[in-house]
Amino acid sequence: MYEELAFLELAIWFGLPAWIANATPVLGGGGKAIDGGRFYSDGRRILGDGKTIRGFIVGVFFGILTGLGQMVAAPHIQPLLAQFVTVTPEMELVLYMQLPVAILMSFGALTGDIVGSFIKRRVNIKSGNPSPFMDQLGFILMALVFAYPLIQPGSIYVAILILVTLGFHWISNALGYLLGLKKNPW
Ligand code: CTP
Ligand code: MG
Repeated sequence: MYEELAFLELAIWFGLPAWIANATPVLGGGGKAIDGGRFYSDGRRILGDGKTIRGFIVGVFFGILTGLGQMVAAPHIQPLLAQFVTVTPEMELVLYMQLPVAILMSFGALTGDIVGSFIKRRVNIKSGNPSPFMDQLGFILMALVFAYPLIQPGSIYVAILILVTLGFHWISNALGYLLGLKKNPW
């Protein structure tokens, strides 16, 4: 029981920089669009006004900040965790966040978000309209891919992270909508 809880907590912990990076651009959005307002050969915007340079920087900034906080906190969390479970090296790998990993995950999350946006425009989904797979998984998958050269978390953490992201992304978007930060609840 404690083991399973530890897996869940550590998977969420590991995903935090990517989640924060993905959730915070809305706080600093506006300004110049990443695609510079340009159109693709299909006559639609390359990315659209929902992807801005400021939003990208804000997301990366808060993602990295999250990673720094985790680096400070990890040594204090380790003994707490050890009270309940045997902390394996695999657990320590995801517990002890490293700055380069947080940086890669933040850039990866924002890049995944952009790739998702690009694909959405190509299949004619308007900016802000939902595409469940792209919106919810693009950022986390790309964050994992970016970080992969430095860290290969156990498959249990990857699986839990993807499942939790599906649920959590929905909640954070609904919250942003209720707070009036987002146009749509998705
Ligand atoms: N945002 C931003 N820059 C980014 C990503 C997001 O400014 N690189 C801001 C925008 O204000 C955007 C909001 O955060 O409207 C929500 O982000 P997201 O849901 O990813 O964008 P959408 O508006 O849904 O646009 P798209 O359909 O292209 O994903
Ligand atoms: Mg959206």
